[in-house]
Amino acid sequence: MKIGVIGTGYVGLVTGVCMAEIGHDVIGTDVVAEKIDLASQGTSHMYEPGLEELLKANLKRGNLHFSKDLDKTIQSAEVLFVCVNTPQREDGSADMSYVEGVSRKIAENLNDYKLVVEKSTVPVKTSQWIKRTISLYKRKEIDFDVASNPEFLREGTAVSDFLEPDRIIIGVETERARKILEKIYEKFKDRVLVTNIDTAEIIKHASNSFLALKICYINLMSELCEKTHADIELVARGMGLDPRIGKQFLRAGIGFGGSCFPKDLRALAKIGEDLGVNMNLLKDADKINLKRIEIFVEKIKKALWILKDKKIAVLGLSFKPETDDIRESPSIKVIKRLLEEGSFLRLYDPKAMENMRKIFPEESPQISYAKSPYEAVKDANALLIITEWDEFIDLDLKRINDEMANSIIIDGRNIYIPSKVRDLGFEYYSVGRQ
Ligand code: NAD
Ligand code: UGA
Repeated sequence: MKIGVIGTGYVGLVTGVCMAEIGHDVIGTDVVAEKIDLASQGTSHMYEPGLEELLKANLKRGNLHFSKDLDKTIQSAEVLFVCVNTPQREDGSADMSYVEGVSRKIAENLNDYKLVVEKSTVPVKTSQWIKRTISLYKRKEIDFDVASNPEFLREGTAVSDFLEPDRIIIGVETERARKILEKIYEKFKDRVLVTNIDTAEIIKHASNSFLALKICYINLMSELCEKTHADIELVARGMGLDPRIGKQFLRAGIGFGGSCFPKDLRALAKIGEDLGVNMNLLKDADKINLKRIEIFVEKIKKALWILKDKKIAVLGLSFKPETDDIRESPSIKVIKRLLEEGSFLRLYDPKAMENMRKIFPEESPQISYAKSPYEAVKDANALLIITEWDEFIDLDLKRINDEMANSIIIDGRNIYIPSKVRDLGFEYYSVGRQ
């Protein structure tokens, strides 16, 4: 079966490469020519552990191809996975113009039966719009089906998430579509859940929002811990021992970022409100998450008093470790706030500096980028931990101490043991701990 992947961004490139890896014949396309040029040469446009190796291997095997020609890609494939972006609009709703554009292209190029699969995260009822659009614009009376197969991969572990999934949700309304998708995912048949399309669409939004709520909840508890003598790490451990709660996604910190949780939480709130459902729970979660940045900046002020002219080292720019993705990264908000205050920032990240330079160019006298964490902290008045990369956990803190002007660490991810860093002579502020 020939699979076409439309949009080879984070999800599309992983989907295309992994579909090829499990034995399918795949062609990927994107409107950004550079992504296709790079992929065709075996290079990933983004950093994702393990992806490039599989990309190269499958290109060599000959069952993975890339093309800049969307029309041809549509014509040549029987199953089309739509992986285009669905970004947030001003009012919080998802911008569906890319999905609509692709649906029209599919209609114009309908040359044989096609199964159109939504992989992008979309509002419930999107499949109806895709069906209507294809029906309105198609030039020939040819059958097609629309299905939903939401993606649950996490950046940083995307390849293993795809190749060892917890579940595969297939939302269908015809037998033909069900059979095709079950065949594609034959390898994981024990993990497939077949639903109707509305259900599949809601499962995706509901899952992301639930995880976002879990993080908000533990962050809220961390605020309470800071006002008492409780320790959030132990609170999370104690809660997580209950299998009904589970230990994952209970890491308190600077708040969640990324291209999905913030936008999906807002999109689901908007969908619910438009349908007359009170979505205040999700709106409050959004507010709690935004407040994390202010709470963090307050800690920096508590340590440094006046931020103007202070030299601050910022370690961690990506929204989480093991990715170069900075979309909605908490680091961006923190950096903006500190620039407003007049601080001088030296930034470091193992993978995300190139992306960050596009937002905060080095031309500004207040911003510079360091080649290592040790260079970043040289003569600094404080060190901020924004992302919990292993490289920061393993730092030689004695050397850090020697390089800094003032030995102050404000840790937004609780990567150090307070007593240990304090024994080394640091003043140490973290999240929900004394
Ligand atoms: P992305 O921006 O990295 O990739 C989308 C790609 O689609 C881009 O490369 C863009 O150029 C391309 N595109 C847009 N219009 C096109 C068109 N008409 N023809 C061909 N290509 C087109 O976004 P992403 O992070 O991969 O997310 C894609 C979708 O998947 C979103 O709905 C997102 O919510 C969802 N999702 C993302 C993740 C994640 O971890 N990033 C995980 C699960 C689901
Ligand atoms: C998330 C979901 O985990 C995926 O299942 C989903 O497919 C994806 O969104 C999506 O739809 O795009 P991702 O955003 O890649 O994946 O990363 P996560 O590991 O979920 O982390 C998201 C944010 O939450 C990060 O900023 C992370 O630092 C934060 N987080 C996570 C916490 O603050 N505490 C935690 O305990 C866990």
